[in-house]
Amino acid sequence: MATYTLPTLPYAYDALAPHLSAETMELHHDKHHAAYVKAANETVERLGNAESWQIAGLERALAFNVSGHGLHTLLWESMSPEMEQAPSGALAEAIDVAFGSIDKYLERFTAALTTIQGSGWALLVLEPIAKELQIVQVQNHDGAMLLGATPIIAADGWEHAYYVDYRNDKVTWAKNFTRMTDWAGAAARFDAVVASANT
Ligand SMILES: [Fe+2]
Repeated sequence: MATYTLPTLPYAYDALAPHLSAETMELHHDKHHAAYVKAANETVERLGNAESWQIAGLERALAFNVSGHGLHTLLWESMSPEMEQAPSGALAEAIDVAFGSIDKYLERFTAALTTIQGSGWALLVLEPIAKELQIVQVQNHDGAMLLGATPIIAADGWEHAYYVDYRNDKVTWAKNFTRMTDWAGAAARFDAVVASANT
């Protein structure tokens, strides 16, 4: 039995058009995300029969593929066909505390997504020690992440996320990502993380 399974998209392939085409979504979900899930399962299996010299490499592969699976799962949940939402409730307050205003957050998040060198992600995370929201840039799928931080919003900065629709215009991709952000879902995730930290 497979350890990891590809989730179905929470909306139709064309639900985010015109910001993301059905072609991009189909490729991204059915090919790229599916490949990380397949590789994660294969790596788990190979780890079970590995020679000692293979283990370090397989562990790196497992981190890369499982993180890729987790980030893409959160990516689909971070976007909504209901465009132009605004944050609300405790999440809106936490954004004001951490960044000053929603506009300043959007400016910084967009900058984080567009200045990744090579492939990576911009994440809004709840950092568990200061209990404060932070924006982090992740190289590939698993580099430079704050240990223990919980991602609330994930934006994919790999070329496969936008190239069909935007070519090399990553800035417009980043701006449109913020217009598609599912703030209702993000607020629910934020409330759940805060509640579990307080129990
Ligand atoms: Fe991706």
